[in-house]
Formats: sequence, C-alpha cells, structure tokens
Amino acid sequence: MIGILGVGHLAAAMIAGLIKSGGPETILLSPRGKSKALAARYGLVICADNRELVERSDIVILAVRPADAPAALEGLPWRDGQIVLSVCAGVALSKFPAIPARIVRAMPMTATEINASPTVFYPDVAEARQLIARLGPAIALRSEDEFEIATVNAAIYGWAQELIRQSVHWGGDHGADRQMMRQLVAQTFVAAGRMMAETAEPMETILKDLVTPGGITELGLTVLDQQGQPAAWQAACEAVLARLTASAERR
Ligand SMILES: NC(=O)c1ccc[n+]([C@@H]2O[C@H](COP(=O)([O-])OP(=O)(O)OC[C@H]3O[C@@H](n4cnc5c(N)ncnc54)[C@H](OP(=O)(O)O)[C@@H]3O)[C@@H](O)[C@H]2O)c1
Repeated sequence: MIGILGVGHLAAAMIAGLIKSGGPETILLSPRGKSKALAARYGLVICADNRELVERSDIVILAVRPADAPAALEGLPWRDGQIVLSVCAGVALSKFPAIPARIVRAMPMTATEINASPTVFYPDVAEARQLIARLGPAIALRSEDEFEIATVNAAIYGWAQELIRQSVHWGGDHGADRQMMRQLVAQTFVAAGRMMAETAEPMETILKDLVTPGGITELGLTVLDQQGQPAAWQAACEAVLARLTASAERR
C-alpha cells in the first residue's frame, strides 16, 4: 500500500503517474491540500489522519514543504520494514527524527505526471527504486552529497522550460504560430537531450559536429558568451546548491 503524506502540487503529479503506470495498489492520502479533489478524481482513499496513513502503508511518500518535513514524521506509528520516500528538497537525512522506517530521499519532477521524470534517489533501496521507476528513469546515487548536487537539476528542469517559453514567444512576436513554435521548440529540447543521453560519443564531439565554423549555432553561442551566459548559468547552479546545503548537517 502506498501512502502520501502531504498532498500538494508534486503529490498530484506523482499520483497521476502512479495511476498511469497501472500499479495494482490502493493509494492512501493524508487529509489537507488537494486530497479531496484527487480522491474524487481517481477514487482514492483519504485517511482520517496521518496516524492511520502510516498504520496502513508499506511505503509513505513524504511530500510536504521542506520546512514542515521533519515535524511531519514525529509521533507516528512507524515500524521496521516500512519505507519513507522523502521528496523534500534540501532536507538532509540527519534532519529527520529517528524512526524505525527506512528513509530514502528522491527528487522527482512534475514530469512524473507523464512517467518521464528522471529521478535521483539515495540510498538505493529496492522498494523505493521500484516505485520511482514507475515514474521515469530511476537514478541511484552514491552519497547524500551527490544527491544535493544532483538536486540542482530539479531547478535546471524549470530553467529549460523557461528557455522554451522565451523561444516560443520570440518566434510568436516575429509572426510564427505560437502553437507550432511550442511543439517545435519543446521537441527540439527533447531531441537535444536524447542525443546527449543516448549517444556514447563525448559531449564535446556531439557539439563539435553541430557547431560549423561560421554557422548559425556558432554565431548564437558567441553572442551568448559575450552576454555572459556561461557565467550566469554557473552562478545560478551555485546559488541553488548553496541554498540546498545551507543548513544541511550530514550524518
Ligand atoms: N513542486 C515541485 O515541482 C517539486 C519538485 C521536487 C520536489 N518537490 C518537493 O515536494 C515537496 C512539496 O512541494 P509542493 O510544491 O507539492 O508543495 P505544496 O503544493 O505546498 O504541498 C504540500 C502539502 O503538504 C501539506 N502538509 C503540510 N504538512 C502536512 C502534514 N503534517 N500532514 C498532512 N499534510 C501536510 C500541505 O497542506 P496545507 O496546504 O494545508 O499546509 C500541502 O497541501 C517540497 O518539499 C518540495 O521541495 C517539489
């Protein structure tokens, strides 16, 4: 039985993906947030309280806001063999109370809704891996420090969507059909990602083949370089990592 403690935006996306992946289990919801709407939409069960949720679940997805995460686990009837899958960004394992259940951290994206979220997780526990793999590629990490670095990618996901949005509006402002541009640009990001993910060649070679001297890709990269894009992107990544690790104490 899967329980969801904290039914907000991310939980809604995960529930949609879990249901699409056709699991046989019942999904139990904590009260509050989007529980009523999602229970009505998918025929899910809302527990009377978090105590009942924990009693009835084998794996509990913790999806409350980061500041609420440690307290949300307090005083509940956890037992050996249970798994808590915390998707709370920047909340180190050491921040949680000591409970008999095993806590695994994961960083899904809203693309869980379409079973396309590459999701990092740590530590590698089979039950957690099996659940995550239903929502897209499951990527086990080697340490919690590596998990924090990889969590920056959850923000990069949003930046990629913002780049898509900007490009679509740029084309629209020049007279191109915005719906066509949305499909074109979004599918181009998918294609760019797949080439990097599915080709064994070094990334530099893939780019070198693409960047013809004197060509349009080179021209755009030169402008981006002059406008400070590489430094700005690195600074954004560093800022997010600093936020994620600011108060994290490691075990
Ligand atoms: N949104 C994303 O794309 C995304 C991606 C990766 C990770 N995350 C992580 O996912 C977590 C949730 O994010 P979100 O955007 O889904 O936030 P959200 O929409 O604010 O949802 C959090 C929900 O948790 C509920 N809640 C808080 N404490 C509770 C408790 N003790 N018992 C039951 N329900 C409780 C809140 O209810 P009330 O409204 O009544 O307080 C709210 O409905 C965050 O930790 C975030 O870091 C989010």
